[in-house]
Amino acid sequence: MFTTLKSSTKNYSLMSMQFSPALTEKMNAFKGRASPIQLGSVHFSSKLLLAPMAGICNIPFRLLMEDLGAGGTVSELISCHGINYGNQRTLDMLKIHKLEKNVGIQLFGEDAESMARASVVAESYGPKFLDINMGCPVNKVVSKGGGSALMKELEKLAPLFTSMKKNMKVPLSIKIRTGWDQNTLNAKDVMSIANDCGIEWVAIHGRTRTQQYTGLANWDYIEALNEVKKLPLIGNGDLHHPYGVSQRLQKTNCDALMIARGALRNPFIFLESLDPEYANKKHSVFTGPDYWEVIQRLYQYTTETFADERAILVQIRKLIVWFAAGFPKAAAFRSQVFGSANLEETMKLAEDYFMGLGDAQKFINYDEVFMSSGHG
Ligand SMILES: Cc1cc2nc3c(=O)[nH]c(=O)nc-3n(C[C@H](O)[C@H](O)[C@H](O)COP(=O)(O)O)c2cc1C
Repeated sequence: MFTTLKSSTKNYSLMSMQFSPALTEKMNAFKGRASPIQLGSVHFSSKLLLAPMAGICNIPFRLLMEDLGAGGTVSELISCHGINYGNQRTLDMLKIHKLEKNVGIQLFGEDAESMARASVVAESYGPKFLDINMGCPVNKVVSKGGGSALMKELEKLAPLFTSMKKNMKVPLSIKIRTGWDQNTLNAKDVMSIANDCGIEWVAIHGRTRTQQYTGLANWDYIEALNEVKKLPLIGNGDLHHPYGVSQRLQKTNCDALMIARGALRNPFIFLESLDPEYANKKHSVFTGPDYWEVIQRLYQYTTETFADERAILVQIRKLIVWFAAGFPKAAAFRSQVFGSANLEETMKLAEDYFMGLGDAQKFINYDEVFMSSGHG
């Protein structure tokens, strides 16, 4: 399944898979604090999971986040119709790497029959679970009745869930929003149908479809659902920084939490959030040179996954620029990276920048809007 990069690019993939002893030691100090969790038949190594993100949660990023403490991951949303048509690009998105431990595949679509057919194909790729996208607010998806539009047609849900489950062996979960709009907060009803149909857990992004990504995630609503839930609930929304995650982890009745955007600017968030005292501190133990190790591993996974140098460049560039957020001179680094000619130059720039940071601290301005659109 993996192809190697056929180019003159410096071959970082020959480098050891191991992080340095110093970084390993720093990471282990946090990893020891993780609380494992069993949801359905899936054992997650931590309650902090990586949320699905289109264009981001592919094999390299999922592997990297598991290495950096995510208890489990989910693929980006994948079209049931693309699968059923045998579209090669869609089928490639279903692939899972043998090193991935707790990965689910997320499907989207609107009709029970197509979703059931696609789920059999998706399951043959070896995920630990399948998930239905019931939160995507994007017009293209919603106008056909998929994503968050499924929350408007509750009568469609039991046939959808039961027909998918009929031929599935792995657990089926759903990812929802709080409702279509403020007047129809119906996550509780959706959860009740899900429970009756054997769905094993629910993840909820605490916004309505109408809100898209505006305002704040409604954690009061999520915590209220915890009072009445009959099946495990994963809370999600605005858990952007270790302090916020750690605070939520301590007071929530959710069975687990999902982090999406927070992991893009701080890939160590799954670890840093586990120590409440540390999360409260301003100083990070993870420095520029640690980020450089992470980027080399990202390079390794990405070049081993994709053959197309352009796709590799796009993927690596966007992530290293996000990872730089909050470090000194990140804006200048960003311009240099986007002006670089090729992957080798990008990696050289990244090495010089992150290694040159020494012990410089990362201060992210969480008040700035960061990525206010997505598929869930
Ligand atoms: C770029 C991007 C892509 C997303 N793609 C998906 C997706 O494919 N499936 C899904 O269920 N949610 C998707 N989401 C929603 C996230 O999983 C998550 O619910 C949302 O971003 C709120 O969490 P956060 O505040 O931690 O980012 C996406 C979000 C973003 C920012």
